[in-house]
Amino acid sequence: MSKFRDARVGSWRALARPLLTLSLPLILATGTALAGDPAAGEKVFKKCAACHAVGEGAKNKVGPELNELIGRTAGTLPDFKYSKAMIKAGGDGLVWTPETLATYLAKPKDMVPGTKMAFAGLKSDADLDNVIAYLAGFSAQAAPAPAPAPAAAPEPEQTRSDAAPDTTSAAPTPTASGHDGKVFGLGRKAEAEEIAAWDIDIRPDGTGLPVGRGTVSDGEVLFSENCAVCHGDFGEGVGRWPVLAGGQDTLTDERPEKTIGSYWPYLSTVYDYVRRAMPFGNARSLSDDDVYALTAYLLYLNDVVTDEEFELSNENFTEIRLPNEENFIADDRDAEGHDMATSAPCMESCKPGPVEITMHARILDVTPGSVDDDEAGGAGGVD
Ligand code: HEC
Ligand code: HEC
Repeated sequence: MSKFRDARVGSWRALARPLLTLSLPLILATGTALAGDPAAGEKVFKKCAACHAVGEGAKNKVGPELNELIGRTAGTLPDFKYSKAMIKAGGDGLVWTPETLATYLAKPKDMVPGTKMAFAGLKSDADLDNVIAYLAGFSAQAAPAPAPAPAAAPEPEQTRSDAAPDTTSAAPTPTASGHDGKVFGLGRKAEAEEIAAWDIDIRPDGTGLPVGRGTVSDGEVLFSENCAVCHGDFGEGVGRWPVLAGGQDTLTDERPEKTIGSYWPYLSTVYDYVRRAMPFGNARSLSDDDVYALTAYLLYLNDVVTDEEFELSNENFTEIRLPNEENFIADDRDAEGHDMATSAPCMESCKPGPVEITMHARILDVTPGSVDDDEAGGAGGVD
């Protein structure tokens, strides 16, 4: 074990000492005596969260779950497949303490050569201290080595709730995750990767675009394999599946053909929509580059670009303008209509004279073919 107590121990103790003199009793009672700030550590933990879970119900992911980490011999969770290197380190006596964690997390591969934790390490001492303080909050046995363990120190076997700070108080501490106790104890925090999987919107100004690229000709191949069964080879639509191209100059017709080229204002919607929803029935199966290529091909089908070698990428994306963009105007409802009224709206007895029926609502059958289309067209919902 001594092998793993290296240079960082000094700085760890230096940080811990002033805290100990200030509030020794509290620290010993909570069993989480740490120089770092757990709330700040929770943010640092985002770097770990793709691979590690901690807290109630935490499961192994790419890396082992990190509950009850302090005091754990390295590489010993029974249901996690560790590298040989990590198992050997544990066999050689490596136990996770604030000190050994500080060394490991600064440069995992230096301390445990051959570890399969693909993480370069945390550069800042503050990040290290904070993330360790955060993790210690999920360990019953989190008292630091320097303090002589008094009788009141929690036993290693104790569960976290047994180790609640104040044994004289009846109220249990809900969690140790830095919420100042203001939690209902329901659900769990969304993982960073869950948020990332959900947070995929792309805005007209290019915000949210992933790095990537694809050409019209790549897109043509992808389109004929994945999209043409429904949308037709040229986006003309098979049967009643949506038409994706054409329709230019039909917007003022009684039956306008609204397509990407004739109607959609922003290319970002095409990328966002295809990535999010297509191919219908197999959404989210395309790579980011595939979606660039397909978007490029859709531009080509709509005559927005004419070169088959045109390559769309996150770099030139916002240079592309769709033909109908200018016909969309900014939402100005705040500056017009009733929002501009200077007097208070009338709320009672507003209509003078007797009450009478002035209009009838008529149910419109909008399914094409079931009523005379001409009759339905332009009739509105009220007559
Ligand atoms: C890319 C994935 C990944 C990231 C990011 C990552 N880890 Fe790991 N971690 C692993 C894997 C995989 C292991 C198992 C290592 C082995 O078996 O060699 C591991 C092992 C560990 C262990 C040893 C646990 C035990 O049971 O012995 C600790 C502690 C740990 N990681 C903490 C962290 C912390 C804290 C962070 C963030 C600062 C982090 N890891 C970031 C994948 C990751
Ligand atoms: C199984 C049939 C099917 C396949 C395959 C398919 N789509 Fe679609 N697509 C649809 C349907 C249905 C809609 C309309 C969905 C809706 O409105 O909720 C649609 C809508 C669209 C739209 C929006 C059209 C509009 O004007 O609203 C685009 C763009 C699109 N698909 C692109 C693609 C691309 C690119 C692919 C290939 C990667 C693809 N689709 C594969 C059925 C399909």
